[in-house]
Amino acid sequence: MQSEPLYREKLTKVLKEKREAVERDPYRLSFHLMPPTGLLNDPNGFIYWRGEYHLFYQWMPFKTNHGAKCWGHYVTKDFIKWRHEKVALTPTEWFDQNGCYSGSAIIHEEKMYLFYTGNVKDTQGNRQTYQCLAISEDGIHFDKKGPVISLPEGYTAHFRDPKVWKHRDIFYMVVGAQKLDEKGTIALFESKDLLNWKYKGNVIKNENDFLNDFGYMFECPDLFQLNGHDLLIFCPQGLEPKGDFYHNTYQSGYVVGVMDYETGALEHDEFYELDRGFDFYAPQTTTDEQGRRIMFAWMGVPEQNEQNHPTISHDWLHNMTLPRELLYENNKLYQRPLQELVELRQPNVFEKQVHLQPEMFWKLLNETTKGTELLLDFLTLPEDWFQIDIAEAVRLIYSKEKQLFILERKSYVDGKFERRQCFLRNLTSLQIFIDTSAIEIFINEGEEVFSARFYSNMSAHHIHFSSSGSCSFSLQKWSLSSYH
Ligand code: FRU
Repeated sequence: MQSEPLYREKLTKVLKEKREAVERDPYRLSFHLMPPTGLLNDPNGFIYWRGEYHLFYQWMPFKTNHGAKCWGHYVTKDFIKWRHEKVALTPTEWFDQNGCYSGSAIIHEEKMYLFYTGNVKDTQGNRQTYQCLAISEDGIHFDKKGPVISLPEGYTAHFRDPKVWKHRDIFYMVVGAQKLDEKGTIALFESKDLLNWKYKGNVIKNENDFLNDFGYMFECPDLFQLNGHDLLIFCPQGLEPKGDFYHNTYQSGYVVGVMDYETGALEHDEFYELDRGFDFYAPQTTTDEQGRRIMFAWMGVPEQNEQNHPTISHDWLHNMTLPRELLYENNKLYQRPLQELVELRQPNVFEKQVHLQPEMFWKLLNETTKGTELLLDFLTLPEDWFQIDIAEAVRLIYSKEKQLFILERKSYVDGKFERRQCFLRNLTSLQIFIDTSAIEIFINEGEEVFSARFYSNMSAHHIHFSSSGSCSFSLQKWSLSSYH
């Protein structure tokens, strides 16, 4: 184990050594947050405080692999310009020496409280887990208070990712967990002062609940109210693909229901995946002064193939999604790009009414690879198919006949096109954010979203539109600015 000053010294050195390689990478992202060097995964401690949004993240600065993570720290006032702060938590104590794992933030009595999992492995590789606290007066320097919760009975050491919130004067915490029968679940705690925590059992209390047998581990839970409903977001591991669902290595999704704070039981309906693309995991939400529920997620999934991303040769890996506002309307969750993101748009908008005829395509010359937003509003769609090809590396296809939306991308493992798809009754609009090597597609104002990394050959990102029959839509295109 290293001391904190030594860790920070090593970090400064590595940042200096590797920064240039990262900055030279043509795939370096322009408006998606990424690590200065090394590997980024989950968003952590996302919170609004004193006019700024703090977004911490799981960070392995020294290499592009997973390992003993620290908490990196980004801050913004407007979601357009970001400042990278000094590292917030380092894995340098006995209770977090193998990683300051994921967690959350809450403001209490003018201080910022961070709750995180201290990951510890002994010499035989056995795991121990501590739910730890660190407190800050300025949101930059953190004073570690050590473990506040140790592992309750009934769980394996796969017990992590505390998310804390307040409901009527009481604080609550959910923790992602694995029961002794090696099934995933979510543990609940409550506290009056954020220091002393009482265990309240699993939030899934009903014996017949399908979540009792829904994968071997639940990671990164988040429980909150939205428009009068209680939503539980979590990441089940170990689900088998089923129809168009569960095709990524691990899933991220939510259930909607009613939380009984007396008994600590959540009654809920089905599980829905949050994102239908390839790269989305470990989402975390917060609320701000305006009462908006805002979500970030890691635009990646823990998987075997991670080391095939070409950015590895430039000493960095992975990024965050764009911030999305969550809305619950007409019994459905919508994810919309956060309003502030319109400020990314540079002044000259390109606008056109596009009419396509069968078997002809229209090519939009996109002069930049650095950041583009497209907005399409459909008037008529052909029965059979409509397709958009982006930079020869991504294809979006909608079949009205089959009521299917398809995303295909060139795999970064073998260069072959791979596919994700979802049922879509009707296509009315598309909002597409194209970064140097990441794309997010918001369908019908956030009814469905697809996220994916992609690697084109980096000549400009030309875009082809084609369709099987006559098709018309209005198109707007903007170049987007960068946060660097
Ligand atoms: C999710 C996760 C969390 C853990 C963290 C470690 O991606 O595995 O469960 O706290 O990443 O980096």
